[in-house]
Amino acid sequence: MADQTHCPKQQCSGKLWGGRFAAQTAASVESFTESISYDWRLYRHDIMGSKAHAKMLAKQGLISADERDAIIAGLSEIEQEIREGRFQFRVELEDIHMNIEKALTDKVGAAGEKLHTARSRNDQVALDIRLYLRDEAVCLDQLLADVQRGFVRQARANFGAVMPGYTHMQRAQPVLLAHHLLAYVEMFGRDRERLADCLKRLNVLPLGAAALAGTGLPIDREFVAKELGFPTVSANSMDTTADRDFALEFLFCLTVVQLHLSRMAEEFVLWSSKEFGFLKIGDKYCTGSSIMPQKKNPDIPELIRGKSGRVTGSLMAMLMTMKGLPMTYNRDMQEDKEQLFDALDTVKASLSITAELLANSSFACDRMREATHGGFMTATDLADYLVKKNLPFRQAHRVVGEIVALCQQRGLELDELPLTELRQFSTLIDDDVFAVLSAEGSVNSRVSAGGTAGARVAEALARAEQQLGIA
Ligand code: ARG
Repeated sequence: MADQTHCPKQQCSGKLWGGRFAAQTAASVESFTESISYDWRLYRHDIMGSKAHAKMLAKQGLISADERDAIIAGLSEIEQEIREGRFQFRVELEDIHMNIEKALTDKVGAAGEKLHTARSRNDQVALDIRLYLRDEAVCLDQLLADVQRGFVRQARANFGAVMPGYTHMQRAQPVLLAHHLLAYVEMFGRDRERLADCLKRLNVLPLGAAALAGTGLPIDREFVAKELGFPTVSANSMDTTADRDFALEFLFCLTVVQLHLSRMAEEFVLWSSKEFGFLKIGDKYCTGSSIMPQKKNPDIPELIRGKSGRVTGSLMAMLMTMKGLPMTYNRDMQEDKEQLFDALDTVKASLSITAELLANSSFACDRMREATHGGFMTATDLADYLVKKNLPFRQAHRVVGEIVALCQQRGLELDELPLTELRQFSTLIDDDVFAVLSAEGSVNSRVSAGGTAGARVAEALARAEQQLGIA
């Protein structure tokens, strides 16, 4: 039988593609080109894809039902061996696809050699990564939701606490701490949406593009798509094997998540300093100094901030790898996996430690409240007060500027200047002014949609709790 003959050269080189080669691949080449040291992580998805492919081949009469069953049983055994750490990965077999195919053929013989019918590693690897990232997107979504819950719980626990809101890192206007925390809930919510959107383009079946041009064998791509839960099949076989947009998009999504985490981390570092004293991170989540006995360092947020460098680096590396690649598959694209895996590991670890950090930190609400004193943070409220009394905003701005200058000269806060003196700047000012000059008065006046007033933040908090399933 034809499928039992073995090419002698193939025997000699030990490669699945060894037929046309007269000499063994140099060991240096094997180690330079291999990807098995990292793409073994795709094994479950590679096997999932191969099983669907085998079912399709049998349905189309390209292999027999017995061959299909042998392939599927063999693949299941291999999956178990890999899961249990009993599988011998071989560098000379380059990648996960050929390691599995060779092991399958060793197990089930000729049927294994039929698995690659109407398939190329070019569409196979695209399939594996898409399947892998599809699962990872679910996992990331859950981790992001956990982080959101952490912020929402802190917002609930500290509801009503007032703090300085900053622009240019200068005290600007008083806000609710809950409002500040819910801002992060919005950011991570957009990250989840962005991932869900990326998933639309990720969730397309590439298998069946074969090497680049499709195949003359009678395959059924729709069947495979259904088996693997892809809503659509890719439209152009060349684009399918050339495309790594989904990897770029995914890396971009990860980069923005890490960037959001990094901004949060920066605030946690600042807030846990003596200078701010807004945040206490639990002892279990801090580290000490090997020389300075008094130190308690916020290493977790520092590392989260630091790791944004490497995640961004992965995105940049992949963008540069893809730049200038001609159609269709090029080996350069093998570089996608290390960038994706590293970025995924980094972002997932950062998200899960952030959820723990949030649950083990407490806010010093008194210190925050104190910090709203000094800095004339209610100056805009005073201007708005005058606007409500019909003074044009620009004039109000000037009047309040003059009042601030006087306060500064005298070392007073806005609410410490007597009414008689305030009235020298504008007779529109009455004794109802003091209500708007307090931090709480200022906060609660900001009732515009999305504003920091208690009423608005209470609504936002309730909405977030409902969306995130917090009782
Ligand atoms: N290990 C390869 C990769 O990760 C699989 C595809 C190889 N295709 C090929 N024609 N050499 O991209």
